[in-house]
Parts: sequence; C-alpha cells; structure tokens
Amino acid sequence: MSYFRPEIERMQGYVPGEQPQGGKFIKLNTNENPYPASPAVSQAIAAVLLRGLARYPDPFGNAFRRRAGEVLGVDPDWILCGNGSDDILTIVTRALVGERQWLRLPFPSYILYKTLAHLQGAGAEEIFFERDWSLSDKFSAPAKDLKLAFLPNPNSPSGTMLRPERILELAERLPCPLLVDEAYADFAEWNCLSQVAKSDKIMVSRTLSKSYSLAGLRFGFLVAQPHLIEQFVKVKDSYNVDALAIAGATAAIDDQGWLAANRAKIVATRGRLVAEMRRLGFVAVDSQANFTWNTPPRLPVKPLYEQLKRDRILVRYMNYPGWGDGLRISVGTDAEVDACLEKLRVIL
Ligand SMILES: Cc1ncc(COP(=O)(O)O)c(C=O)c1O
Repeated sequence: MSYFRPEIERMQGYVPGEQPQGGKFIKLNTNENPYPASPAVSQAIAAVLLRGLARYPDPFGNAFRRRAGEVLGVDPDWILCGNGSDDILTIVTRALVGERQWLRLPFPSYILYKTLAHLQGAGAEEIFFERDWSLSDKFSAPAKDLKLAFLPNPNSPSGTMLRPERILELAERLPCPLLVDEAYADFAEWNCLSQVAKSDKIMVSRTLSKSYSLAGLRFGFLVAQPHLIEQFVKVKDSYNVDALAIAGATAAIDDQGWLAANRAKIVATRGRLVAEMRRLGFVAVDSQANFTWNTPPRLPVKPLYEQLKRDRILVRYMNYPGWGDGLRISVGTDAEVDACLEKLRVIL
C-alpha cells in the first residue's frame, strides 16, 4: 500500500543541474553568474545579522517591493516576492491550475513547469517550438480547462526570444493567463514588463539568481496586476522570503550600476563563446541569455559532456525527446570559457 497521492507516485520529480559541493570544477552548467554580487549586498545582510534574527521577517518584503517598484517603474502592489522565481512559478501554478486541468508550455523549455503541473494532478501540454525557435499559433489556441501557460523569454536552453508584440498577441488569444518567465531578461535586448499594464493576462517573473549573482540567496519576484497579486498572496507561505534575503535583494536591485557593468561583461564573453563554438564546428544559437545552446554537426554529444566532466568542467547535457540533444554552456568568466573551449579543441 502506498501512502502517497497517485500523481506523486507517478511523477518523475524535477532533477536540478549538478551542484558539486566538493572538489574544484569549472561550473558552466546551471547558468549562475561567475562574478561576485554587488558589495552592497553583503553589507546589507551583515546589518541584519547584527540586529539579529529573533523576529519574523516582513511577510511581503515591502522594502524590496518599494525599491524594485522605483527601479522598474511599477507600483509596489504590482510585485510579489518569492523564495527564488521557482517559488513564484509554484505559487502561480497552485493558485490557477487544479486537478485534471491543463497547463501549457513550449518545448524544449524549462523542465520544472511540467513537474509543477503534475504536482497539481494537472496535465502539461507541450507545444513544440519551430526549428527556428519561433512559436506557432498552436501555443495560443483556446482549449478546454487550460488554466495557465508558461513562456520563458529568453528561453532555456536556446537563449532565444519572442518579441513583446508577439507575446501580447499570444496572450490575447489564450483563454488563460500567460506567465512570461524572464529569469534571463537582464541579459537580453528587450523584455515584457510594459505589457503587464496592457493586459492582466500577462505576468512577468524575474530572479536575482542570474543577473545579480545571487543564486544562493534565493530571491525572485512576480510583476502582475494588483488584483492578481492579492489572490497569489493567499497561496504563498506566510514568510516565503527571509530577512537576510529581503535585505540582500533590496541592496542588489538598488545597485543598477553594478548590474549594467556585469551585463556588459557577460554579453561580451557570450559573443566570444558563440563565435568560438561555431569555429569548432558546432551549431550555436544566437543567445540573449547568459548561456548558449550548442549541437555538434557529426559527433554524439553525450561523450563530449562526459569527457569535459572528467576534465573537471561541468556543462549541461540536455536530451529532449522528439527534438534532440545538445550542450548548454553557461557564460563564465573569460578564463573559464577559454578553459572549456581549449578542452573541447583537444577532444575534437
Ligand atoms: C527559465 C528559468 N526559470 C526560472 C529559473 C529558476 O530560478 P530561481 O528559482 O533560482 O530564481 C531558472 C533556473 O535555472 C530558469 O532557467
């Protein structure tokens, strides 16, 4: 006899990228930022530690909402804080998608979306990207019991994007809200933030894990119209962001000078990585994120990943049934990227 709900027994469970806790690896597998965060972050966290952690934190993270609101040009009540953007995706799914209903996602994209649907006892409908990574109108086709659609923009693993006008078009045809997952938007040329005011069907999630070098802090947020935020608040854990995270995240988003300088470094290294991968014979997609998607024209991909790992370089091997496999390589420092390219040159 099983103690578990049948949908839990049936599901695979999301497997995050490898996070080796010992040994020295060049880590280019989970799209973290290779540079240290703004120094203002550790100062803000130290100040909270000095005051102590005896009291519960602000349940809404209002200090962050106020500062982020000013930076992004939205009112604080349009922002919901989360324990990483994964927490935001979970809250939104739990609030909108019930048992035997449907969640739609593009494929290949972020694998967690499917897991979130299955946790609800709901179905996950995958709409394949076209081979040029555009998305056909199938993505916005009305369907019975469709309650939520996710769209990562830039997408993972491709790093490609849809235009904001196209996203508004898709959202308007959908019978449900569309969450645009902008985990990587700070590295991109455009984003959908201004679309949120145009339609309450568009919501945008962001994270401080990538562009602010704070994957370990766990802080993400949602931007949506206030009547939606009010409902999502009912679903979240009361204290889903802790006092250290609120202080660190507020200091991080306050330091837009740091963000601009970091972005410039990542974008420059990304350009070099794409060009060099092409020189090595890979098909490398033009990326607007802090990673690149690479498929070699002749060789099997998995042995390349395995050899790199033996050489203490971690990249992400992804195999998408019905689509194909490839290597997703995060943009590290110039030295890290050079070390990876050098090893690939030797292997090939
Ligand atoms: C598309 C996408 N969305 C969301 C996340 C989650 O980010 P976090 O929970 O660290 O904010 C990731 C992380 O890899 C991602 O690739």
